[in-house]
Amino acid sequence: MSSSIDHVQQLADLLRKSDNIVAFTGAGISTESGIPDFRSPGGVWSKYQPVEFDDFLRHAEARRQYWTIRRESVPQMLAAKPNAGHHALVELEQRGKLQAVVTQNIDELHQRAGSTRVLELHGTAMQVQCLECDKRWTAAELQPRLEADELELICDACDGIMKSMTVSFGQALSADVLMDSMQRARECDLMIAIGSSLVVYPANEVPATAKRNGAKLVILNREKTPLDSYGDLVIRGEIGQTLSAAVTQLS
Ligand code: APR
Repeated sequence: MSSSIDHVQQLADLLRKSDNIVAFTGAGISTESGIPDFRSPGGVWSKYQPVEFDDFLRHAEARRQYWTIRRESVPQMLAAKPNAGHHALVELEQRGKLQAVVTQNIDELHQRAGSTRVLELHGTAMQVQCLECDKRWTAAELQPRLEADELELICDACDGIMKSMTVSFGQALSADVLMDSMQRARECDLMIAIGSSLVVYPANEVPATAKRNGAKLVILNREKTPLDSYGDLVIRGEIGQTLSAAVTQLS
């Protein structure tokens, strides 16, 4: 599916007129890098049940399920390269137009692409911490243990439970990151919601807050979203192709 020329021109016009843009991204911006999203057909939640944070803390079986998901997803993230969508956002930042990326993604592809102001609402899967003593590991250094079916990772310093530094369902988001994201949403004059089904709270409050505070809202997503009716511009298109075509028109 490709976005119409007209939509690309309308997006380019909005980008041209704004120097206070915030991008809000979801898993859809990383699928073109080979990382499956969650709710598309064949996505993560079509293969696994999400592990609630309480269950993770209480039950060894829930922790084994959690690490089974990570055993599959972490190598995909480590092998992934930023794609045209990530690079288009870096270009907007380098032009002084994009003030921040607020992302739900946990793959660090925005940072690897060169984005310097990335707010990770749902944390990162690239780091692991002990929930007791806060000792840290990289996901890469732990991967051999998961590959060897060690699906119950216990801290070697204090016997505490280890967990990726992501935010699971039922787990609180970082208050600082959420407040900073909402502040940027209130201040921006253009919010672009990219590759998200916009169904998860409170993350989906970020684009809604921007709209309520007078920003123009662009939604770029293959499927419909619950915020489409608030969108000033809704583009049913492929992210990499659409964003890079619009940014190219700025030159
Ligand atoms: N181009 C355009 N849209 C795409 C592309 C693409 N290349 N690839 C996927 N999409 C769209 C899908 O149609 C889908 O609507 O991206 C959206 C991704 O939605 P989700 O899979 O629900 O991902 P996301 O919105 O990031 O999920 C939010 O839910 O499970 C939790 O914590 C997890 O951060 C995640 C949160």
